[in-house]
Amino acid sequence: MPIGIFDSGLGGLTVLDAVQQKMPDQPLIYFADSAHAPYGVRDADDVYRLTARAVQHLWDAGCDLVILACNTASAVALRRLQENLVPDGKRVLGVFVPMIEALTERDWGDNSPPREVNVKHVALFATPATVASRAFQRELAFRAIGVDVEAQACGGVVDAIEDGDMILAEALVRGHVDALKRKMPHPQAAILGCTHYPLVEAEFQAALGGDVRVYSQASLVAESLADYLTRHPSMAGTGGECAFVTTGDPKQVSDGATRFLRRKIEFLSA
Ligand code: DGL
Repeated sequence: MPIGIFDSGLGGLTVLDAVQQKMPDQPLIYFADSAHAPYGVRDADDVYRLTARAVQHLWDAGCDLVILACNTASAVALRRLQENLVPDGKRVLGVFVPMIEALTERDWGDNSPPREVNVKHVALFATPATVASRAFQRELAFRAIGVDVEAQACGGVVDAIEDGDMILAEALVRGHVDALKRKMPHPQAAILGCTHYPLVEAEFQAALGGDVRVYSQASLVAESLADYLTRHPSMAGTGGECAFVTTGDPKQVSDGATRFLRRKIEFLSA
């Protein structure tokens, strides 16, 4: 059966791409809530309501497992969804934990007490809503002690990427990295906590400097999903078909997605 991959817009395509490379036989349905993007400037209730509607759509379309390939939804809505909405046999997972497990050198599901880890100074770049939720710091505190996190809300970057204005996106990234460095001059690691940001990863790396390790979320999520499916084989499928649906204008979203992934992508109306 297909696995649902959800994002407010195009960013989750970075996760879809990594999942397709890792598991080419797995059927997928991608849902872009483009009519309501960006989520990163919405309040928590709004993000929850929109995320719940999208997840329900994917469950109704036959997905038993839905990945929130959106940090904002994972940070703000995942826990509430898992507590209130998940019917028997259905699952919804976020994209935060695989990244934090990588940062804290833990295997999946290692629930041992928090411990000291090698990395001490971490820069988090994310949307204003993700930063405000403090979900990253909370999840990290369950696993590690003594890690100093400085978060930078990267206003405008998602809109610029959705609009295909990469010159603006790159200029904004440089500005946000400068702002972060004024607060934390020497981060050891940087988390790109938004699924849109892999598109400007080179710009982040250049602005941060070569000695800062930048964590790439898409491949970590794909590896974690492959691992999950070996433990829950009934959630996996075969055939490799991939459908794309959006609440926005399908032609416009298809053009954006084709530019984003550099291959032809065709969205239908959700
Ligand atoms: N890709 C989403 C994320 O990972 C973008 C959020 C937004 O729509 O602002 O946070």
